[in-house]
Order: sequence, then structure tokens, then C-alpha cells
Amino acid sequence: MVKKNVCVFISGRGTNLNNLIKRSREYNFPVKIKLIVSNNINAEGLKYAKINSIPFTLINTKLNNFERKIFKELKRYDISLICLAGYMKIISKNFIKLFGKKIVNIHPSLLPKFKGLNTFSRVIENKEIRSGCTVHLVNEKLDSGKIIAQKYFFINECDKENDIKIKTQRLEYLAFPEAIIKLYRNN
Ligand code: GRF
Repeated sequence: MVKKNVCVFISGRGTNLNNLIKRSREYNFPVKIKLIVSNNINAEGLKYAKINSIPFTLINTKLNNFERKIFKELKRYDISLICLAGYMKIISKNFIKLFGKKIVNIHPSLLPKFKGLNTFSRVIENKEIRSGCTVHLVNEKLDSGKIIAQKYFFINECDKENDIKIKTQRLEYLAFPEAIIKLYRNN
């Protein structure tokens, strides 16, 4: 199987990145992680780039030409899919156009509910019965593109924010790889 090249964007812990790196080693997983992009020099997740000898690029989103810089790297590694895994910056309309291929994001709620930040506290405030995660295509509107995969769990009355977070992330490690497999199965 000829695997497609993926770039993962991170800003923080990178546990989804780590999970994708592991899954991508399976012989029948459709992609390999060729490049990592971080806007945060202190992102904990960069350790997975180092441990696994995967090239990474640090970007300064305050610079005018930072999107051009990313684009150049994406070309260099022949990237055909971008996975946003805890990347805390908004992807511009221009960049989406410039890249011209699919970009997917993982979000810790059952979209279209709870777009944006602080999802876990809002889930509790809203007395939701269920919560979960969503992998969706990225378009110019925040957390609004076509849904590729979604997984949920039922909330216990005693669940606090951190319990919801742990349960959500456990499902993320299943949903993200599943979404990638789906994307390539349909191609
Ligand atoms: C995940 O919960 C994801 O849904 C959100 O950011 C978090 C990233 O976690 N977009 P990690 O950096 O992969 O550990």
C-alpha cells in the first residue's frame, strides 16, 4: 500500500499526534506522518517529533508570511492531508485555498454543539446527557465543516470537567484514525 503523506498541526500536549504516529505504523493504515507544525515552541507534543525523528517546523503566526512558510514545507514533503490536533490558531480562508487539499480537525464536543473553546465546562453547565468528539473537515467557518466521524459517551451525574475531558480524549484516539481511514476509503 502506498501511504499518503500527512502533516499534523499542534499547539500543546500532542497526545492525538502520538496516537496518530502509532496508528500510522500499522501496515494497512492509509497515511504516514511526514511533518509536524507547531505555533508553540514549548508545545509538549514536539517531543513526539523528536522521539520518532519526524521533521517539524515552528511557525510564528505574528509574521506576515507565516502561511507561505508552512505552504512551502507542505510542498516539500508532498503533504496531501493536514490534521489539526489541538492546534489553537484559526486557519485562514487564504490558507485553505492555497493548500487546496483536505484539512481535518478534531473537536472535543458533539458538533454542531459547543463550537469554540471551553467545551467541557459548557457541557456541564448545559446539563448534557451525552458528550463526545467530532472529526470534521475544516472550512472558513469555525468548527463547521462536514463531519467525518463522531463518537459519544453518556455523562454520569458525578462527572466533573476533568472526567468529561478524560472520557472525550479516550474517544478522540479512536475517532481521529477512523476518520482518516474513512477519508481514504472514499477516495
Ligand atoms: C483535544 O481534546 C482536541 O479535541 C482539541 O485539543 C485537544 C488536543 O489534545 N482540539 P492533544 O494535544 O492531542 O493532547
